[in-house]
This record gives sequence, structure tokens and C-alpha cells, in this order.
Amino acid sequence: MENSKKYRYCRAIFPALLFLLNPVKVSAVDGRVVWDNKCEECHGDPIRFSEKYLWNIEGQLQGQHHIEDLDLYMRQHYIPDYAFGSIRNLLLKSANSPARFNIDCSQCHGTVAAFVKKSIWVRGNEVTGLESGRDIREFLPAHQNLQTRDVSFYLKLFARTAGKPFYDEEPLPEAITR
Ligand code: HEC
Ligand code: HEC
Repeated sequence: MENSKKYRYCRAIFPALLFLLNPVKVSAVDGRVVWDNKCEECHGDPIRFSEKYLWNIEGQLQGQHHIEDLDLYMRQHYIPDYAFGSIRNLLLKSANSPARFNIDCSQCHGTVAAFVKKSIWVRGNEVTGLESGRDIREFLPAHQNLQTRDVSFYLKLFARTAGKPFYDEEPLPEAITR
């Protein structure tokens, strides 16, 4: 009893002491420095990581994988509180934005949500035309002058919109061996 009280007391006082001894300027934390120290060993380059796996949905950072609450996931994931904002901003800058579909495709296909619901089927790592039966990975390079990078982007966007797990390149857990 007595011990656990002491323990709780220490737990409360210890971070406060640390803070006093070592005041961290919250605004001055460089996301890149934190990344290199705490994330690089598993995830490699932050721009590549973000381009491959992350989304900027109206200013919110979201995962290809962790669609729902990436902020919560990241808070439980090796990220010190003081660095959270700067890491988030670093990743947000190179994350994918679904706004591209509105600009380049919507005039013919409507919203991405409506298009995917009506025309796209994602199953395993295959993306198929729901009615046409087309392999969309093969179809897209001949459509609208799309380049390989664009094809990869749209396959990911369709899968994400369909709420299905999907990796166009290496699956996330296998990308952790750097
Ligand atoms: C020890 C290895 C390791 C370190 C260090 C690490 N991560 Fe991760 N991270 C993982 C693994 C493994 C996953 C995939 C987990 C899963 O599939 O649920 C992951 C997933 C993620 C995701 C989710 C991506 C998605 O598609 O949903 C984000 C974002 C992320 N990490 C950010 C970070 C940041 C930022 C740091 C540094 C502060 C960091 N990670 C440090 C191993 C690591
Ligand atoms: C000028 C109009 C136009 C634009 C812009 C356009 N598409 Fe299309 N798209 C079409 C037409 C028409 C078809 C049907 C072609 C057919 O069935 O032969 C089609 C078919 C598709 C299909 C196959 C659907 C199926 O059911 O098989 C996909 C996927 C697709 N478009 C993606 C895109 C993407 C991604 C963009 C934006 C980069 C885009 N399209 C821009 C006109 C357009």
C-alpha cells in the first residue's frame, strides 16, 4: 500500500523534475532530427515512407493501413510527446492527397467515393473493374497519359477509398528491416 503510493508520487513528480532540469523548447523541435534518431532505423527516409504509406486527408495525417486514428496510433508508437507535432508535419508534407482525383479525374468520373463504389473492386492486392472485369493496374497506363507513379497512387487511392488493406509496393511490416 505505502509503496504503491510512493510509486505514484514518484511517477507524478519525476516528469516534472525532468522538465525543470531540461526545459525543451516545444516550438524548436526539428522533426527531421527526431526522425533520424527515433524512426529512421525502421522506416528509412521520411519522404519515401510518407509517399508510400501515408495520406493527407484535408490536413489530417492518415495511414494506408491505420485509416481510423493514426494520431492515437502514433502516440503509442515510439514518439515522444514533445516531438509529436513536428513529426506529424514532416510526414504530412510528403503524404498523398486524394485531391488529385478531383482535379484530374472528377470531370468524367465524379467523386472518388462514388466512382469506387460503382466501378472498382479491391480484393487482396488486385484492383479490378467491377463490371468491366479489367485489371486496373494494366488499364491505367494507357488511360489519360498516366505514368507508373500515378498508377501506383491511384491504385492506393482506390483501395483506401474502398477501405481495403492494399500495398502496391512492399507491405509495411516488411519495410521495417532497414
Ligand atoms: C522498431 C521499429 C520501429 C520504429 C523505431 C518506428 N516504427 Fe513506426 N512502425 C513500425 C512497424 C512494425 C509498423 C507497422 C505496424 C503495423 O502494421 O501495425 C509501423 C507503423 C508506423 C506507421 C503507420 C503507417 C500506416 O500505414 O498506417 C507510422 C505513421 C509510423 N510507424 C511512424 C513512426 C514514427 C514517426 C517513428 C519514430 C518516432 C516510428 N514509426 C518508429 C516499426 C517501427
Ligand atoms: C475525359 C474523361 C475522362 C477523364 C478525365 C478520366 N477518365 Fe477514366 N475513364 C473514362 C472513360 C470514358 C472510361 C471507360 C473506358 C472504357 O470503358 O473503355 C474510363 C475508365 C476508367 C477506369 C476503368 C473503370 C472500369 O470499370 O473498368 C478507371 C480505373 C479510370 N477510368 C480511372 C481514371 C483516373 C484515375 C482518372 C484521372 C487521372 C481518369 N480516369 C480520368 C474517361 C475519363
